[in-house]
Order: sequence, then structure tokens, then C-alpha cells
Amino acid sequence: MRTFPTFVLLWVLGLVSAQTNLTDSQVSDVVARLAQGATHPWELGTRAQAILEHDVRPFSVFSLSLPATSVPSDSSSAIAPVFSIASGVVKNRTSSNNHTTGPQPLVNDSSAADPASIGPAVLLANWTGLGNSDGVDYAGAAKDQLDYLYSDNVPKSSDGAISHRVGELQLWSDFVYMVPPFLAYYGLLTNNQTLLQDAYNQIKLYRDVLRDTNANNLWKHIELGSGKQVANDDGHWSTGNAWAAAGMLRVLASIHSSPFSSSMSSQQDDLSNWVFEIQSAMYPHLDSDSSLFHNYADDTSTFLDAASTALLASTVYRLSLLRSVHHFLPTAEKTRNALFASNSSGLEHFTSQGWLTPVVNPDSFGAEGTESPEGEAFVLDLQAAWTDWVKDGSKGANGAMRIGGRPNGPLVLSLVLGVGAMMAMVVF
Ligand SMILES: *[C@@H]1O[C@H](CO)[C@@H](O)[C@H](O)[C@H]1NC(C)=O
Ligand SMILES: *[C@@H]1O[C@H](CO)[C@@H](O)[C@H](O)[C@H]1NC(C)=O
Ligand SMILES: *[C@@H]1O[C@H](CO)[C@@H](O)[C@H](O)[C@H]1NC(C)=O
Ligand SMILES: *[C@@H]1O[C@H](CO)[C@@H](O)[C@H](O)[C@H]1NC(C)=O
Ligand SMILES: *[C@@H]1O[C@H](CO)[C@@H](O)[C@H](O)[C@H]1NC(C)=O
Ligand SMILES: *[C@@H]1O[C@H](CO)[C@@H](O)[C@H](O)[C@H]1NC(C)=O
Ligand SMILES: *[C@@H]1O[C@H](CO)[C@@H](O)[C@H](O)[C@H]1NC(C)=O
Repeated sequence: MRTFPTFVLLWVLGLVSAQTNLTDSQVSDVVARLAQGATHPWELGTRAQAILEHDVRPFSVFSLSLPATSVPSDSSSAIAPVFSIASGVVKNRTSSNNHTTGPQPLVNDSSAADPASIGPAVLLANWTGLGNSDGVDYAGAAKDQLDYLYSDNVPKSSDGAISHRVGELQLWSDFVYMVPPFLAYYGLLTNNQTLLQDAYNQIKLYRDVLRDTNANNLWKHIELGSGKQVANDDGHWSTGNAWAAAGMLRVLASIHSSPFSSSMSSQQDDLSNWVFEIQSAMYPHLDSDSSLFHNYADDTSTFLDAASTALLASTVYRLSLLRSVHHFLPTAEKTRNALFASNSSGLEHFTSQGWLTPVVNPDSFGAEGTESPEGEAFVLDLQAAWTDWVKDGSKGANGAMRIGGRPNGPLVLSLVLGVGAMMAMVVF
């Protein structure tokens, strides 16, 4: 009988300290599915960003310092896929347009925004001197992409918002992840405050149009077009809300890391508030049974989507790390535990090959899909943000309890079990 209390105590400690986490082999499957599936311009850019955040942290914008100007040998294999995206795209560019330079996108596409998502990888290739060894002009390609965005070939709104589309002026929430992080990273690496400021301005202009004050600030998906090419979409697409929040955080991190951080504190405050605004608009719509969002956050007739759920959760850990805003951490933990939950036959929200499920079809935003490369990237973004947060001491794990709010479930459970264990010690 004397061993019983110790057993109880260990059991309780195990329960309290057990953390849901992906194993190395589960992560490798996700990395492999992402590599296999990412082909579209925005998927290449999103993949490069996920690899930096997850596998090459000192070269991610969330390291909050300028990247080293050369890659240390212990990071060279981790960063290789990022450079392979950059070199593949830039070499293709010069071969497909007969070696012409001048304003042009990194990839020829009907979206004006998506090719720019590859820009940060191209900037990093230049910054770390890859061009010295492979003879490719990464700085020139990045400058051409930048100039293209500001050229007359890309429509602008009357107040200067850059169109998401080439064919006509149209604003999509997706844009916030594709273009402002590129402008901001360009500004950070070339010490150009104008570009950091414009990254902020573009987000502000998009928010002016897409934020739906009739829906507690959820963002609408697509506005201002004539609908001839792609119909406008007033719906509150969950992935679009998550793209916007996640893009804002990359811009916030870029400004924070720049020499202009103190003179741009109000911009950083705004970005932080706007990320929180989206989280505050989205989380009340989380499906309580599954802890996932519906594809359109406030439309329960739409299917459940694990991809947007993962990306938005990553923004909660990032906002906590960057700005000590901890409010939604318990909710993010709940969704992360749901997304990465296991049953006796494996992960509940992944196929045996490692595809996240259920997910929106990345090529058809109203339809459920089966294999989503961007969803795989969001899993890595979430895993990276959560791991960074845990390594930083899991600050604010209990969130900020609102006055009149309900207490934190896991905290109460661990307190009850802990007290129970101590009583057991005393009794036996
Ligand atoms: C989760 O597991 C991965 C290995 O798969 C590990 O690299 C990472 O550090 C773990 N995260 C935490 C917070 O323990
Ligand atoms: C290069 O262009 C070809 C033809 O357009 C395309 O099939 C291929 O995927 C491109 N490669 C890269 C790395 O973008
Ligand atoms: C490429 O440029 C060369 C030299 O200017 C020209 O002769 C050739 O026709 C061009 N090819 C294409 C496909 O535009
Ligand atoms: C870009 O794509 C369009 C059709 O999508 C095509 O008409 C145009 O020739 C392409 N331009 C280049 C430079 O490849
Ligand atoms: C390219 O890299 C060099 C050296 O690191 C840097 O001085 C330059 O500003 C970079 N150019 C761009 C466009 O980022
Ligand atoms: C900053 O970037 C803008 C846009 O490319 C450019 O017009 C301006 O000359 C740059 N400023 C500096 C100081 O390099
Ligand atoms: C485990 O989860 C998978 C995926 O959701 C499901 O198909 C399977 O039936 C579950 N197995 C058990 C034993 O609950």
C-alpha cells in the first residue's frame, strides 16, 4: 500500500505535464507532403516561409534580428529547400522571358500578389550570397518584382491599395500574407523605411475595405472587382482571416527588427491590435465539438476546416511572444490539442500519409479538398510558433481571464487533481 500514493502522484504529474506534440516522423511526413504538393506561386512562398520558421529559425523574421550574411554549415541543409525555391523560380524567369530584365513578377500569374510571396526567399538568397556561387542575380529579380507591384501593370485603388489581381482591381484577404511581408522584408534588408511604412499602409487600406463591422470585424474575402474574372466574396472565409493575421505578424516582426522600430511604434501597436481584432472576431465562432473553424467562420452550414484553424492558432503564439498578448492562448491550446490529437490508430486529423484533414480545397475556396499544401505549411507554422512559445517559458499559458469570464478548464483540472494527489499522500 505504501507505493500507491507515489503511483498516484506520478500519474497526476504525468497527466498535468503531458503535452500533445507531433513526433519527428509525423513532422517529416508533413514536410514531405508540403514539398510534394506545393507548386502554385503562393504555395512556394508559403512553403519557404514555413521551412524558415520551423527548420531555420535564425533566418526567420520571427528571430527578430537581421539574418546572418552567410549560412553557417549546420544550417545549410535545412535552408537548402528555400534556396532551391528561389533559384528555380529566378532561373525560370530569365529563361521564359528571353533574359529580359525590368519590372516583372517572379512568376507569370493572374494574381499580382501571389508571386511576391516568393520574394522573401529570393531576398534571403541574395543576402546570404547565394548568387556569388550560382551566378544568379537574386537582388535584380527581387527589385523587378518590387517595381512590378508599383508599376502601371498592376491596378491600384484610388487611395493606393495594390490589387490582388492583374486583370482588374480586386482586393482579397489572401493579399496580406503575399505582399506586405515581402515589402517589409525588402525594407528591413535594404534599410528602407518607406517600404516598411508601405507594408503597413497596404494592410491598413485592405482592412478599410475588407473588415466587416456588421460581423464583429470578421474580414470579408474578396471585394471591389466587377466579378467578370472572379466573383466578389462577401463571406468571412476562415483561411482569409488567418492569412491576414499571419501576414500582419510578419510585418510587425520586420518593423520591430529594423532601426525604425522606435519611430514606428504606433504602426506596431496598430498591427498588434488588428491581429487581436481578427482573433477576437474568429474565436467566438470556433465549433465547440471539434475545436475547428467552419470554412466560412460564421456559416455553420459550411464544412469544418483544419487548415485555417492551424494558421490562426499559430498567430496566437506569435502575438503572445511578440507583444505579450496572451488572451487566446487557452483557446489556441485547445485547438492545437484537437488538431494534433491521437487515437489508437494514429493522428485523428491527418491521413496515414500525413495530409491534414478536413481541409478546404486550396484551388477552390468554397469546396472541401483532400490534399492541401498550404495546410501542411500551416501545421509547420503552428508547430514552430508553439515550440518557440514553450521554449520561451509558456508565458501567459492561462490567458488573461476576462472579468466575469469562465476559469481556465485545464488549470482547474490540474489543481483539482493536484490537491487530490496531496490528500491521497496524507491519507495513505
Ligand atoms: C515537439 O516535438 C518535436 C520533435 O518532433 C521537437 O523538435 C519539439 O522541440 C517539441 N516541442 C516541444 C515544445 O516540446
Ligand atoms: C518553370 O517553368 C515551367 C514551364 O512554365 C514550369 O512547368 C515549372 O514548374 C517551372 N519551375 C519552377 C521552379 O517554377
Ligand atoms: C530572344 O531575343 C533574341 C535576340 O534579341 C531574338 O532574336 C529572339 O527572337 C527572341 N526570342 C523570343 C522567343 O522572343
Ligand atoms: C503570361 O501568361 C499569359 C497567360 O496566362 C500569357 O498570355 C503570356 O504570354 C505570359 N507571359 C509570359 C512572359 O510568359
Ligand atoms: C543584396 O545583398 C547585399 C549584401 O548582403 C545587400 O547589400 C543588398 O542590399 C541586397 N539587395 C537587396 C535587394 O536586398
Ligand atoms: C526605398 O524604396 C523605394 C521603393 O522601391 C524607392 O523608391 C526608394 O528610393 C528607396 N529609398 C531608399 C533610401 O533606398
Ligand atoms: C482514429 O481517427 C481516425 C481519423 O479521424 C478515424 O478514422 C478512426 O476511426 C479513429 N480510430 C479509432 C480507433 O477511434
